[in-house]
Amino acid sequence: MPTVTGSFAASFSASFSTAAAFVAGATGYTGRAVVAALRTRGVETVAHIRPGSVNGAEWRARFEALGATVDESPWEPAAIVAALTTHRPTHLFALLGTTRARAKREGITAPYETVDYGLTKLLLDAASACGHGPRFIYLSALGAREGTSNPYLSVRGRLERELQASRLPFLIARPAFISGRDREESRPTERAVSLLVDAALRGLATAGLSGPQRRFASLTGRQLAEGLTALALAARDARTIADAAAIRGAIPAEQA
Ligand SMILES: NC(=O)c1ccc[n+]([C@@H]2O[C@H](COP(=O)([O-])OP(=O)(O)OC[C@H]3O[C@@H](n4cnc5c(N)ncnc54)[C@H](OP(=O)(O)O)[C@@H]3O)[C@@H](O)[C@H]2O)c1
Repeated sequence: MPTVTGSFAASFSASFSTAAAFVAGATGYTGRAVVAALRTRGVETVAHIRPGSVNGAEWRARFEALGATVDESPWEPAAIVAALTTHRPTHLFALLGTTRARAKREGITAPYETVDYGLTKLLLDAASACGHGPRFIYLSALGAREGTSNPYLSVRGRLERELQASRLPFLIARPAFISGRDREESRPTERAVSLLVDAALRGLATAGLSGPQRRFASLTGRQLAEGLTALALAARDARTIADAAAIRGAIPAEQA
C-alpha cells in the first residue's frame, strides 16, 4: 500500500480536533453504508442527496434517523464549494458512479465521463477551492488506469492522477467487486460474476493460496464502508492508496 505524505497536508492538520464528514453518493450501495459507519463512530456527517432525487424524502428520513445532516446542493461548482465551506468537512467521501443501464434511463450519453469522472472532478475542484483542505476519499476501482480502452477504468485512472496532483490529502480505494445480496438495485450479471470469482478464489485459498482472495474477493457495501471509514479516519493528512486487501485488513474485528 504506497503512502505519500505531503507537507501542505501537514500544514492544516492542527486546526482540526474532531472529524466531520461529507458523503457524496450517500444514496448508493456503498454511500449509505458509509453514512451508517460514520454515525456509528459518532462522526458528524453530512449526507449529500442529488436534488430532485425520486426517493429524496425517503432518503432524508433514513439519514436523519441516523443523526446525519442532509444536504441537497445542486451539482454546480459554486453550490458545491458553498456546501463544503458551510459544513467544513475534514473528510470528503466521493462515492459516485453510474451504470450504462441507469445512464440510459436518465438520458446521459458518455456516462463514465459525465458522472463517474465529471461529478467527482467537480467535487475535487470544490475541495481544492474551499480553503480548508479536506481529506478526499475516492472510491476508484481495481485496475484503474488512464489510457486503457476501457472507459470505466480510464476515467478512474485520470481522476486518480488529478487527485494525486492536487495538494489535498487523500485515500484512493481500489476494491474489486462491490457486491452483496443486500444491494437493493438488481445487477444480476455483476452479482453472478462476483459469486463465480469469489468461489474460485475460495478454492485457491483452500489449496493454500490465500493472497489472491485477500486482493480480489468481493466486498459487500457494509464491509467496504467499515474498512474505508477506518482507513479514512485513521489519518487526517495522509496520501494513501488502498487495495481490497488493505481495506479488508482495516475492517474492525467486530464488523468483519
Ligand atoms: N460495483 C462494483 O463492483 C464496483 C467495484 C469497484 C468500484 N466501483 C465504483 O464505486 C463507486 C460506488 O459504487 P456503488 O456500487 O456504491 O454505486 P451505486 O450504488 O451505483 O451509487 C452511486 C451513487 O452515485 C449517484 N449518482 C449516480 N448517477 C448520478 C447522477 N447522474 N447525478 C448525481 N448523482 C448520481 C447515485 O445517486 P442516486 O441514488 O440519486 O442515483 C448514488 O448515490 C462507483 O464509482 C462504482 O463504479 C464499483
